[in-house]
Amino acid sequence: MRMSDVTVVPNAPTGAPLPAAIDELWDRRDTLTTDDRAGHAVVTAAVDQLDSGVSRVAAVDPVTDEVVVDQRAKRAILLAFRVLGLEPSEAGPFRYHDRLPLKRTFDGVRVVPGAIARWGSHHAPGVVLMPSYTNIGAWVGAGTMVDTWATVGSCAQIGRNVHLAGGVGIGGVLEPASAVPVVVEDEAFVGSRSIVVEGARVRRGAKLGAGVILTASTRVFDAETGAELPRGQAPAWSVCVGATRSRSFPGGEFGMPCLLVLRRLAEGQTFDRLAIDELFRTHGVAT
Ligand SMILES: CC(C)(COP(=O)(O)OP(=O)(O)OC[C@H]1O[C@@H](n2cnc3c(N)ncnc32)[C@H](O)[C@@H]1OP(=O)(O)O)[C@@H](O)C(=O)NCCC(=O)NCCS
Repeated sequence: MRMSDVTVVPNAPTGAPLPAAIDELWDRRDTLTTDDRAGHAVVTAAVDQLDSGVSRVAAVDPVTDEVVVDQRAKRAILLAFRVLGLEPSEAGPFRYHDRLPLKRTFDGVRVVPGAIARWGSHHAPGVVLMPSYTNIGAWVGAGTMVDTWATVGSCAQIGRNVHLAGGVGIGGVLEPASAVPVVVEDEAFVGSRSIVVEGARVRRGAKLGAGVILTASTRVFDAETGAELPRGQAPAWSVCVGATRSRSFPGGEFGMPCLLVLRRLAEGQTFDRLAIDELFRTHGVAT
């Protein structure tokens, strides 16, 4: 894709536009090295914008309800791997050797020891990071809890007041730049050890039971009506579990995984069974 294919709209859902210089660097990315100080400065400033939350890689457009991806932001991240050299770093007795530094600013965020976030990820005030991992380009909205051993992959977009329960794996996506990341919308719950990958979307207020697997091609059924719903999406304000549907193959009948929408919730309805004690979230920050 050429520079001219990239549209960066001011006031887009993805926030402030990143500098056009990113596209010029992208066009000559194969010649970039860690010695390119000017390139280094441009890329660092762009990823700083993602880190602070002024800009983001993707967001749901409130008008169209589509996920909008800022390809320039993705390019900035990919370029970071070219212009940043391997640097040693340390945390207590641990030693590391990596291109990307760790995140340094956590305004209003509670970061429990063992939590790791890479520079270029954004956590809004009121986020609680239990010992978990957040990769570059990810966005985590206000009041969200990222529970123990949960991983938030590169560029994944997690909304406000979400609970990613223990061991949840939210997939990351960097290439191609146009690829839509995983989006978990506001007020959603993702049960323990669930896996949400490949640009799958957990819509507002959806509650996924423990152990759900949701990929772009996962088929979704409504248990009440039997209707098949859009693939790779947990419907808004619903309770869903991982299930199987039977399918005939030449070799026999087999159960294939699917997502089953067990029931619907009213918009804004909380689900007491999944509520976490406010004390766990609270750290004196109004969100
Ligand atoms: C899905 C869940 C929210 C329960 O929702 P619910 O609407 O109260 O559903 P029920 O408990 O009535 O279960 C309905 C059916 O789904 C099944 N079911 C429940 N949870 C399931 C799951 N995670 N996967 C597959 N099936 C599940 C039940 O066995 C039951 O089947 P049955 O009717 O044949 O007996 C709950 O089971 C769950 O998975 N909670 C997440 C727990 C978690 O991850 N906590 C975080 C800790 S950090």
